[in-house]
Amino acid sequence: MSKKIEKTVSLESFEWNELDENIQDLVEQARLSALKAYAPYSKFHVGAALLLDNGKLLSANNQENASFPVGNCAERVVLGFAHANHPEAKPLKLAIAARKGDEKKPVSVTPCGFCRQTITEYEQRYGQTIEIFMLAADGSVLKAAGIDELLPFGFKDLNG
Ligand code: THU
Repeated sequence: MSKKIEKTVSLESFEWNELDENIQDLVEQARLSALKAYAPYSKFHVGAALLLDNGKLLSANNQENASFPVGNCAERVVLGFAHANHPEAKPLKLAIAARKGDEKKPVSVTPCGFCRQTITEYEQRYGQTIEIFMLAADGSVLKAAGIDELLPFGFKDLNG
């Protein structure tokens, strides 16, 4: 007899002024980093900011390539940089923000599938859930308490 395996996911939406100052700062760093994205092909500029448990706040953005699949998303750039340079520090909070071309207003963004799998890897690596804050077009912020809220059945262990 088959059985159903269910997981419930949820996100929380915050108005800007409901957020703690340190979260506002994290999202703001993601927004500022998007301004420096290298996205000449899609013109979709994404910024990501990452807070580590040693207090460091890193940010990065998407880096595209004329051969499209070669490009990298903002989230994977910042997570890879963090792990390369601060391998001992746990990533705690990740913020992402995006804008189209020269438009001033943000566009809503959530991490792509590749990035969700990458976040899954670092949660596993550090035994630490990573809170994810996503800026929406209306200035509100969506929060995922951990990657399971965005990728509930992610691939976790090659040998599991
Ligand atoms: N992109 C990101 O940087 N993060 C995401 O989670 C979604 C997509 C980038 C990849 C590409 O450079 C551009 O946005 C359009 O897909």
